[in-house]
Amino acid sequence: MGGALVSPHEVDYGDVQGLVRFGHGKLSEATYALLRVKQPEAARAWLRSAPVTSATPTSPPPTTAMQVAFSAAGLEALGVPAAVRAGFSPEFLSGITEDSRSRRLGDVGANAPSLWEWGGPGSVPHVLVAFFAAPGGLAGFVQANTGEAWKDGFEPQRWLETSQLDGIEPFGFADGISQPDLDWQQTRDLKAARNAYANAVALGEFLLGYRNEYDKYTDRPLLDVDARSAGLLPAGDAPDKKDLGRNGSYLVIRQLRQDVGTFWRFLNRQAGGDRARADELAAAFVGRTKAGVPLAAVRPAAGPGAPSKPEALRLNEFTFDGDPAGVRCPIGAHIRRANPRNTDYPGRPTGLARLIADLGFGRKVFREDLTSAVRFHRVLRRGREYGPGLSPQDAVALDPPDARERGLHFICLNANIGRQFEFLQNAWMSSLKFAGLSWESDPLVGTREPVPGCPMSDAFTLPRDSGPARVVAGLPRFVTVRGGAYFFLPSLRALRYVAGA
Ligand code: HEM
Repeated sequence: MGGALVSPHEVDYGDVQGLVRFGHGKLSEATYALLRVKQPEAARAWLRSAPVTSATPTSPPPTTAMQVAFSAAGLEALGVPAAVRAGFSPEFLSGITEDSRSRRLGDVGANAPSLWEWGGPGSVPHVLVAFFAAPGGLAGFVQANTGEAWKDGFEPQRWLETSQLDGIEPFGFADGISQPDLDWQQTRDLKAARNAYANAVALGEFLLGYRNEYDKYTDRPLLDVDARSAGLLPAGDAPDKKDLGRNGSYLVIRQLRQDVGTFWRFLNRQAGGDRARADELAAAFVGRTKAGVPLAAVRPAAGPGAPSKPEALRLNEFTFDGDPAGVRCPIGAHIRRANPRNTDYPGRPTGLARLIADLGFGRKVFREDLTSAVRFHRVLRRGREYGPGLSPQDAVALDPPDARERGLHFICLNANIGRQFEFLQNAWMSSLKFAGLSWESDPLVGTREPVPGCPMSDAFTLPRDSGPARVVAGLPRFVTVRGGAYFFLPSLRALRYVAGA
């Protein structure tokens, strides 16, 4: 495969790590090893022999999978030259705990990196190795791949265990329903503005080395051809250079502890002990019912005889166009903040009206244009839950409360950490100002930290058909950040480059 010719557009699935294409859902056991490099040569030897899983489908499907990613400190520890590392993005290079970044991400107060269990100052992991296996297979798979070279090469910093809660995240909601649809064939017309929301997103939003939604290539290290870089693919936009980023992505990981007891006790109090009303308010927080049904209108069902769609697709076929004021699905609901499903031009103007919109005039509704077009801000979620399950009933009833650690190892992939993950986390989740709202952050992940000049930072607004909105005040913090890091998920060719093969 080393020097095989691949056209600028064609994707060599054998070079892409499987996680970009698959969630490895059938491999329900998983653990993430966070490692520091102890002896670079032994670490590189382990990397050279690691059975890293590609995105090529196999028949039968695999019973195990492994993915590997490096932090900026990890690339340095493994001997990647400074001039090469400098080609990666500034967010990746400075890392998730840089001061101003922490403020923007809401990593302040109880979320501050100085309080993290891992990833805080002085404990940035070098390498992430994710092991996945079919039920019963994980221990054996890990053991088979952590022999001499592993022990000599790495100092395990932490093993992040995961648990299988059957697609239900710890608060009790179906998760992993909505994902962007990667345009692997690159057939989208990237020059056209989008007047309708579509789930398809340019490949370059997730895979480095391909055109993104701006019809441009995202920056990544482009190397001169030499003995070491010879095995890399050429850059699509600079064919005389070798592209270390091509077929790779950036991986963001955050350990998010979920306080399930506080969540359901708060909802129960708000609902005066009525379980159905507590469920309703919880669904308004998320924007979907526990079973995953979106509160905003689902498109009318197709007529008789239409082929039936997979459930996940059906649950994802909606926009908020029919609910502009947020009466069915509140504007501040988690999924509406995370993906407003809007277009480049709200109201779909053409001609002169479009020019007026471009100039920022002519807004009919206050909310219009306040939210940027979502196609530039999608992320591919690949996280897994951890800790024991706890039903809403037990979360309310148990005395003393069940305080065992549980939550989400949030993982997302994106080609531009600043424009995708950070924008989402900062502008849409943590910010008190979102789409006309001004006293509330995301109901699930918001910090509720006071902000100077804002009378409240812990509200949740439920708009109504008529009359003033109902404002639920005093939301506690339900989620606390316990660790986090930015990684580069290399292509298999780039992995061999780093391993010195
Ligand atoms: C513990 C913290 C979190 C919990 C419990 C949580 C839970 C959920 C749930 C239940 C859904 C709906 C199911 C689905 O569409 O897959 C969802 C969707 C989503 N979440 Fe989260 N989430 C958390 C943190 C985050 C964070 C930190 C981000 C990004 C910064 C995020 C981004 C998204 C996105 C992009 C969607 C899909 C929205 C859509 O396309 O409709 N989530 N989340």
